[in-house]
Amino acid sequence: MAQQSPRYLWIGCADSRVPANEIVDLAPGELFVHRNVANLVVHTDLNCLSVLQYAVDVLKVQDIIVTGHYGCGGIAAALAGSSFGLIDNWLRHVQDVRDHHPEELAAAGPNAADRLCEINVLEQAFNVCRTTIVKDAWDRGQKLAVNAWIYSLADGLVRDLSFCATGEVDSGKLRQEALRKLTVG
Ligand code: CO
Repeated sequence: MAQQSPRYLWIGCADSRVPANEIVDLAPGELFVHRNVANLVVHTDLNCLSVLQYAVDVLKVQDIIVTGHYGCGGIAAALAGSSFGLIDNWLRHVQDVRDHHPEELAAAGPNAADRLCEINVLEQAFNVCRTTIVKDAWDRGQKLAVNAWIYSLADGLVRDLSFCATGEVDSGKLRQEALRKLTVG
């Protein structure tokens, strides 16, 4: 293949146990990938934004998939307030998510870390929706869906977190509904 034309952009964790292509069983050329610790989409992260912009504007991917995973070390460290050096600054973003959802985390009891993994994916997927890149794509009528998934190291399965935004209007509502489903479940 002279030029890549992947249909999907994967935004996932840097964890060595969650290799993007293997999880979704896609061949080279089919998946454009950005990974960082705790699969974060930070509005000032030029690296992530550049991947997103190139994927949407140039490659014209049709699906963006933000995938978290249970047992994420970054999420666990953020939840516990553990210190590992410079990375603590990056994980402050996860702590912001934690601090925005005290009730959901309290309700999860001993499963708070896994719940934070889920909530974090939803918030990052919502962050993708709020970038100028995705908003502009939707404004000009480009077909583009933003999805939130979570992967389990224990059973090797990917779970859909009921967030699939195809336009700016529905993304906020979808976020609320998806968060409610986690809280009830
Ligand atoms: Co992780």
